[in-house]
Amino acid sequence: MNELMSHTADRGQAEMFSKAWYNEYFRRAAESPTHARFCEAVYGRDLCQHGMMDVDEMAFLAAMLKPGEKVMEIGCSNGHITEQLHEQAGCEILGLDYADVAVGQALRRTEDKRDMLNFHCVDLIHDDLPGGDYDVIVAIDSIYFMGDYGATLRKLNAKLKPGGRMIVAAFQVKEDHDPESILNPGHTRMDQVLKSLSSDYMQHDFTTNVRNHWIKNYEYSHNLRADFDAEGNAFLCEARMAENGWFKDHAEQETLVRYIYQIEHNPALS
Ligand SMILES: C[S@@+](CC[C@H](N)C(=O)[O-])C[C@H]1O[C@@H](n2cnc3c(N)ncnc32)[C@H](O)[C@@H]1O
Repeated sequence: MNELMSHTADRGQAEMFSKAWYNEYFRRAAESPTHARFCEAVYGRDLCQHGMMDVDEMAFLAAMLKPGEKVMEIGCSNGHITEQLHEQAGCEILGLDYADVAVGQALRRTEDKRDMLNFHCVDLIHDDLPGGDYDVIVAIDSIYFMGDYGATLRKLNAKLKPGGRMIVAAFQVKEDHDPESILNPGHTRMDQVLKSLSSDYMQHDFTTNVRNHWIKNYEYSHNLRADFDAEGNAFLCEARMAENGWFKDHAEQETLVRYIYQIEHNPALS
């Protein structure tokens, strides 16, 4: 269990991040004007986000994709980010998520783009991943939900074509029991696993973005609380507040970092 999930479980919110919880989240978020304002203010653009990727980080990620590439995105929620990546990079993307409400929203919205954009309802832990020979697999704040990083990277690596790559956006915090070095490039938990697998990879630092993100996430959830309540969407606000205090503290203490890892296909793992 990663830091985020153990933190929320500690607060008696064990059901947070379950399929039912995410379905409830996206059922409400897709229709909520206040959620749209929240995302616009916090991320720089409303794409119904539930991760930590702001518009600058997203532009960087989109520039890592090439026209015509065959991409699979894991944990795509209701696919607004997926759709934008497709629009910006011209690649073909299959988005996967277990929240069937979110996948349904994505499918309905993108019906006329089905040749280049598709979405499947898949449990990333229990189901087989569809297709294969992907040029790229993208994971934006979803890798935490798949359990052990090593097993997850092996599972994803097996779906890449030779020469393919993964693009994984993930945070790392330093808790009291962790060494200082865990925040440094080359030393995060993801780095440690990638090194143990002898994978070739590069990492790009988005620490400033993620620290700003959580400070704004905290601030706007409080600023917009009355508006969420007035819509009958206190659930959305409480969902944000359940995690943003913990992250804001780490951001202010400078014990939170974020990297995009570009990981090359590893033939030795397949
Ligand atoms: C933190 S959100 C990130 C969503 C989106 N990538 C973004 O950046 O806004 C994590 C996403 O992973 C999905 N997810 C979590 N556990 C999953 C699982 N076991 N199988 C499939 N999807 C899962 C959730 O439904 C949610 O859409």
